[in-house]
Amino acid sequence: MDADTVIEMLTDHRADALMLTSHLKFPKTVIERIPEHVKIAATCSVGTDHIDIPAAKARGLPMTNTPDVLTECTADLAFMLMLNAFRRGYEYDRIMRAGWRIHYGLGEMMGRRAWGKTLGLIGFGRIGQAMARRARGFGMRVLYSSRNRAAEEAELGAMYFADFREMLPHCDALSLHAPGGLATSKIMNAETFALLPKGAVFVNAARGSLVDEDALIAALASGHLAGAGLDVFHNEPEYDTRFADLPNVFLAPHMGSATVETRNAMGFRALDNIQAVLAGKPPIDPIWR
Ligand code: DGY
Repeated sequence: MDADTVIEMLTDHRADALMLTSHLKFPKTVIERIPEHVKIAATCSVGTDHIDIPAAKARGLPMTNTPDVLTECTADLAFMLMLNAFRRGYEYDRIMRAGWRIHYGLGEMMGRRAWGKTLGLIGFGRIGQAMARRARGFGMRVLYSSRNRAAEEAELGAMYFADFREMLPHCDALSLHAPGGLATSKIMNAETFALLPKGAVFVNAARGSLVDEDALIAALASGHLAGAGLDVFHNEPEYDTRFADLPNVFLAPHMGSATVETRNAMGFRALDNIQAVLAGKPPIDPIWR
């Protein structure tokens, strides 16, 4: 449903609550039209960058998201993207589907080893930390940069950089786990990609808005980056199809949380929030207070 249909349906059915996904943009102009009988809007996503939070607060509309339940699956997908970027997953698959008929020499079609490499994380919340746990199983050294340094027990040996630019030259792989929004808009751009060592791989399962896509495409095309694994894009679903022309990119259509188990858990978490508010209790996962 588009925003107009949502407002119409809420009104026609005198709905008490709205459950939405990140596909529905929720700016001030939409929030102001939500009828008064709607007591809560629960987004079935951990990300909240599709919502104008100050407008929801001004309207007094309780809004909730679905943290925690998608952490492990999103980290699994980010790790899958990273391994495919290191090991040329897309190219191997393409060769097989084209009907592989020639032996490759020992020096051909070589990827890069993930084991023992250094992984940098921008953002070290729940998903960033879950990515770090996976990396440890692959013998990787983990660096991270986030607004605040994590508690020592959450770091589990990861090294903190207050300025992510200082971390970049040390990263064999870089994975983004920061929220979208103005503060992080295009933090990866021509200048910051250039700080990564030649041959690094880049992973994004967070938000497309964090990346200047022209700069990413240039870094991949020039070979400065060996590869990338991308699940999110600036303009979804009308993503920039120049990515599809690059052999060294493994692509997914925004599927971080897309497992049966996690999508069920997200749906129930959103419903639990709705049930709490309609029962006169505080929301479980408020996105504003
Ligand atoms: C999330 O939960 O934020 C996912 O990226 C889906 O929008």
